[in-house]
Amino acid sequence: MPSVVILGTQWGDEGKGMVIDIYAEQADVAVRYQGGNNAGHTVVVGGEKTILHHIPSGVLHPQVQCVIGNGVVLDPAVLLGEIDRLRAKGLLRNERQLLISDRAHVICPHHVALDKAAETKKSKDAKLGTTGRGIGPAYRDKVARSGLRFGEFLQPVVLRAYLERELPEANFLLEKYYGQEPLRLDEVYDAYRAFADRLRPHLACTYRLVNEALRAGRKVLFEGAQGAMLDVDHGTYPFVTSSNTIAGAVCTGAGVGPRRIDRIMGVVKAYTTRVGAGPFPTELNDELGQRLRDRGGEYGSTTGRPRRCGWLDLAQMKYATEINGLTDLVLTKLDVLDGLPTIRVGVGYELDGRKLDIIPASAADYARCRPIYEDLPGWPRSVTDCRRWDDLPSEAQKYIRFIEQRLELPVKLISVGPARDETIVLEQPFA
Ligand code: GDP
Ligand code: IMO
Ligand code: MG
Repeated sequence: MPSVVILGTQWGDEGKGMVIDIYAEQADVAVRYQGGNNAGHTVVVGGEKTILHHIPSGVLHPQVQCVIGNGVVLDPAVLLGEIDRLRAKGLLRNERQLLISDRAHVICPHHVALDKAAETKKSKDAKLGTTGRGIGPAYRDKVARSGLRFGEFLQPVVLRAYLERELPEANFLLEKYYGQEPLRLDEVYDAYRAFADRLRPHLACTYRLVNEALRAGRKVLFEGAQGAMLDVDHGTYPFVTSSNTIAGAVCTGAGVGPRRIDRIMGVVKAYTTRVGAGPFPTELNDELGQRLRDRGGEYGSTTGRPRRCGWLDLAQMKYATEINGLTDLVLTKLDVLDGLPTIRVGVGYELDGRKLDIIPASAADYARCRPIYEDLPGWPRSVTDCRRWDDLPSEAQKYIRFIEQRLELPVKLISVGPARDETIVLEQPFA
């Protein structure tokens, strides 16, 4: 099984970074294929936390070739900060361990400014709660065919021409529509030229590299960012991100054919969280929600915002299973449910007195859905020290079996703490 996709099945922050780090021990290549530095992927090793926004979470393993694919939008300043932090830890010693697609799009200061200005101007109900990293404007420019690709960003003349073409319009909007300060072309150019000089050694034709690796039978991990419910087509539109986050995005965002993908493993938190605005039927706006937030440390890895918390929603998960074609599950943060007398699981919805087993396309309708729950017994003791299936309390085993049966998918890894070794590995993906 040489190619494995690891992606989020909920609203992001399921623990994808941790899973990639664990599986990367056996991998040769790790590829990010969509999203940008709206992602915050946490890896904890030996008590030390590393949060990755751009670089694949396999980077802690020196043998892993890290790739940022064409489907990514990339902020050079953020990426360089990340590279510097990793190098200070003795990682990424070889520059070519990180390769960046010539076709990836570059986030510029006007994208960030427009993202923040648009959010500020929106009414309370219309705010999306974006990460303010310029993701939407950068993808908008890509689709509008006016973006800046990494390969062009590295060429000073092309970079200058891009800024001369694009900044006047962005500045017009910033000044005249949003009442903000305009950006100075020379300042942006000087900064971006310097960034380009430092990032030039990472340039590569990554689709070719990934395809060659797959042909050679090397073990490739594809690392999703965000989660299924934030997908621009299939998520809770408009409360979504600006990229496709589902498995299909691997093909477009890395340049590999669908038949090259062997396994699609969905990472699912043992409960649900969401950061930013939008519908969330099983949300708990009470002490229990706060308890999950406290025990799970549910504060954004990118923005530090408190995450909204609620019960696991299997109706939502069924949808994520279908649109991704999941083959396996990874269940994370089981320990956060320790000590609860009863655990509720959403299994469907009720809308206007009718039962629904699908998710309405309209976010307004989805927001009116009431979850239908089934209750399962909780477990009284901590699962943090469990390392084998048999170590788990019988109630926790029943909870996991319930999820497997309802979704008709096997759980292959269970995490019971944030650290690399706080896991129950049931099957290695490359076995
Ligand atoms: P990602 O965006 O999907 O990579 O997830 P994040 O890194 O944004 O958020 C997951 C958070 O949960 C991080 O702080 C992880 O260190 C932490 N975490 C991961 N697995 C576990 C677990 O099994 N138990 C606990 N308590 N924390 C976990
Ligand atoms: P990882 O990869 C959780 C959310 C934002 C907001 C919406 C749009 O760490 O799971 P954007 O800045 O993308 O335009 O914001 O998407 N969002 C995330 N939520 N985890 C993420 O990434 C997210 N990336 C974006 O909070 O609601
Ligand atoms: Mg995250």
